[in-house]
Amino acid sequence: MEIMADKNEWGSNLSFILAMIGSAVGLGNIWRYPYVLYSNGGGAFYIPYIVAILLMGIPFLILEYGVGYNFKSSFPKAIRKIHSNWEYLGWLLPVAVFMIMIYYSAILGWDGIYMILSFTKGWGANPDTFFATTLLQSSDSMSGLAHFIPIIAVAMLIGWVIIWFISHRDLEEGLGKVSKVLVPALFIIMVIIVGFSLTLPGASIGLAELFNPDWSLLTHFEIWMAAFGQIVFSLSLGMSIAFTYASYTSDDADLITNTISIALANSLFENFAALGVFSILGYMSLQSGTAVADLVTQGTGLVFVVYPTVFNVLGQWAYVLGPLFFLTVYLAGLTSILSTIEPLSFSIQNKFGLTRSRTMTILVIVGAAMSMIYATAYGGELLGFVDTFINQIALLFGVILECIIFAWIFKAEKLIDFLNSRSKTIKVGKWWLVIVKYILPIFISIIWIGGLIDVINTGTMEQLNFTVVIALLLLISTGIFTIMPAKNPEWDDTEERV
Ligand code: TRP
Repeated sequence: MEIMADKNEWGSNLSFILAMIGSAVGLGNIWRYPYVLYSNGGGAFYIPYIVAILLMGIPFLILEYGVGYNFKSSFPKAIRKIHSNWEYLGWLLPVAVFMIMIYYSAILGWDGIYMILSFTKGWGANPDTFFATTLLQSSDSMSGLAHFIPIIAVAMLIGWVIIWFISHRDLEEGLGKVSKVLVPALFIIMVIIVGFSLTLPGASIGLAELFNPDWSLLTHFEIWMAAFGQIVFSLSLGMSIAFTYASYTSDDADLITNTISIALANSLFENFAALGVFSILGYMSLQSGTAVADLVTQGTGLVFVVYPTVFNVLGQWAYVLGPLFFLTVYLAGLTSILSTIEPLSFSIQNKFGLTRSRTMTILVIVGAAMSMIYATAYGGELLGFVDTFINQIALLFGVILECIIFAWIFKAEKLIDFLNSRSKTIKVGKWWLVIVKYILPIFISIIWIGGLIDVINTGTMEQLNFTVVIALLLLISTGIFTIMPAKNPEWDDTEERV
């Protein structure tokens, strides 16, 4: 156990903070946020957004960190200690995050391909057709599963090798060191891209469009839902990642101050990304005469269709900006995906007594094999289903579950003295308890039910069927981990630090 603890400990507080920022700053900040901001009232969105950070992001992270720090063990091991019959719930979130990892690896693979293509604008004159037809060979019929696309498989496997290379080392040697290099690099490249974008003719058109506040939307429930949803996704809340990372800290961490730094850095990055995205869209709108509103699309569309379209009209500059942009997405995605393997890996190490290195090797092989389903012509369609399931259902459920288990059963009160004694900035007190015990679980439950109804109402029959299959897969694999007998004699003695 002694040796294992070493392998799973941050070398310094800086490694912990940067790795958390690396987990938070990802595809959600680059493609998701600009679109969410734009379609939910522009400048007016900042009000629900800031409320979501103050009311949920920061208080919830403090809770998740506090409990993770206290137990210094994996999520299911801690849940077992909190309530001996609840181990199943403890495996649910680490397994769900691992599912996120598998589909994130596909987007990472696509991005890798675009990074190479961007040197020659290899997507041709018609990026839309290129993405959907030439590259993904998208098919919305299940028979597409039989059609394997080797180039995507290769790109994804390269990603898995990189992940393995970093993750199978001891925590500080791998993830810690990599975060210290990549996360600052990410911010620097972003500054360069945004700086350049702001000088483009037409940038102000895009920015005016982005920030043009529509105050009337503030009375709409949807924009509040959107703000809370964005913060959950962007800060990687409720998926036992923050918990696991905090359990890796040494004894003197100032968790409250760390939380504030991480939330600030994450918001800074995504708002910066929004400036860049909309300056570029403004430029394109000027060039093509299309209104900005018609250029904005969400998700993979924005990254893999709109950007290549922009680079096509950008002339020589595109050969610098293009590779730089796809590199940023790659690095942001990489530092996030590295966080999605940690909770399950640490849980398996704890229960079955395997080493970090061996566990990572097994998980990477299993993950890579399973991810190959996304390297088929049906992969794009399937990825959409899984993404919706994760975002609308699983993530928010994780937040509610953690609120109940941590704030009520474990009792958040127990953490207050300890948190405050380390904090050099703000202190937590009554208001924090009210938020994590009442406001958050109630509010997120409302949003969760709204999202569930939305999936049922708007989903096709095929999507609903797949959602059930995905959910069953999650529930069954969670069951298997729970039932399998522990191999580590220390599985049942969990110490507490607070
Ligand atoms: N936060 C990441 C992003 O913005 C995505 C992410 C990584 C995530 N790990 C997560 C989201 C865990 C939810 C849960 O792209």
